[in-house]
Amino acid sequence: MKKIADILPGLLSETSKSLRRSEIRELLKLTRQPGIISFAGGLPYPGLFPTEVMKDVLSTILEREGDLALQYGPTEGDSRLIDFLVKWMRKDEGAEIDKENILIVSGAQQALDLISKVFIDPEDPIIIGLPSYIGALQAFRSIRAKMIGVPVGKQGMDVDKVEEILKKYGKKGEKIKFIYVVPDFQNPSGVTMTLERREKLLELCYEYGTIVIEDSPYRELRFEGESIPMLGAMDKRGYAFSLHTFSKILFPGTRIGWIIANKAIMDKLVMAKQPTDLCSSPFAQSVIYEFCRRGLLKPHIKKIVKVYRKKRDLMLEALEKYMPNEEGIDWTHPHGGLFLWVSLPEHLDAEELFPKAVEKKVAYVMGSAFHFDRSGKNTMRLNFSFPSEEQIEEGIKRLADLVVEVL
Ligand SMILES: Cc1ncc(COP(=O)(O)O)c(C=O)c1O
Repeated sequence: MKKIADILPGLLSETSKSLRRSEIRELLKLTRQPGIISFAGGLPYPGLFPTEVMKDVLSTILEREGDLALQYGPTEGDSRLIDFLVKWMRKDEGAEIDKENILIVSGAQQALDLISKVFIDPEDPIIIGLPSYIGALQAFRSIRAKMIGVPVGKQGMDVDKVEEILKKYGKKGEKIKFIYVVPDFQNPSGVTMTLERREKLLELCYEYGTIVIEDSPYRELRFEGESIPMLGAMDKRGYAFSLHTFSKILFPGTRIGWIIANKAIMDKLVMAKQPTDLCSSPFAQSVIYEFCRRGLLKPHIKKIVKVYRKKRDLMLEALEKYMPNEEGIDWTHPHGGLFLWVSLPEHLDAEELFPKAVEKKVAYVMGSAFHFDRSGKNTMRLNFSFPSEEQIEEGIKRLADLVVEVL
């Protein structure tokens, strides 16, 4: 009888054979050593989780509607939560939507997975940012999309470059299946796409017959400046799909997010979701709904924005204070979100520097992890939501010391 390890290669799908454990994740395990100040994660600050009020929310749900909350639910989601979201998105965002435009999902990550399944066959071309969120790269890679990278600068994705690509593929008679963007306080760079670029991106979608996936977990975490309309609200023709989540504005542990999409595609998304999990946790949806119903969400967002704004300020001040004033060293000034992005002189490689940073007891994520083509070697992502205020100052000092040494 053969060992299972001997027969597996003949049984695995081509897709699973192409999946690789990320070296970056292996490297990041080092960041869990004691004493390390980590700017590597993308986690909300747990000290802000509303645990006290959640005790009451949980007992209310179990007493009032335990039979429903603990049962299976509709794939589309809890209709009370959907109603709440419709009202919120209409009032605050000007999105012209109703109930049929919303699908509750198990986190925005599931939305990325479902959208990949619905639109992409292996080798289908899509446009993504250089850099882009790692989880999106994983979702697109797992379905073997052909990724075409477009630089993301301080104004957001370079839409002229997008146009060039759409033109080029159009001439070949090939369709770009979608354009993936994080317009507000992008993970990883912290930059926000300007209104002009959003307008042009939508125009390009209309002209070339493709759609845009707007991934928007950080939109509500704005520290300063005027909000720029979301693509999902600017678009009146159903070409923009918006992904949202409670992970960063409340907590990620319930894994609840939502997709706003045109009704014409909802059926497909629902059918793609059913074999995955039948429905997102009805219990988790009840919990989130009850929290929102009590009017607690907005005050909570206000509270976290205040804390994260202060942390961002501290990180910017520390960078200003400690980083050497050398040509090629630069960082973004995010107006919201959880991250900022540091560029080093071209000849420095943040991946090579990483073990030295760990020796100095500070960690970051190397920018190449966010580039599907492994470019962006001289960049790094720093998270400011999770570390404490003291850690931010000390960690940036350690990082700057390292940069001074290697320069
Ligand atoms: C851009 C982006 N999209 C999606 C996600 C996944 O969010 P969720 O926790 O809702 O699955 C994240 C999480 O960090 C993210 O940064």
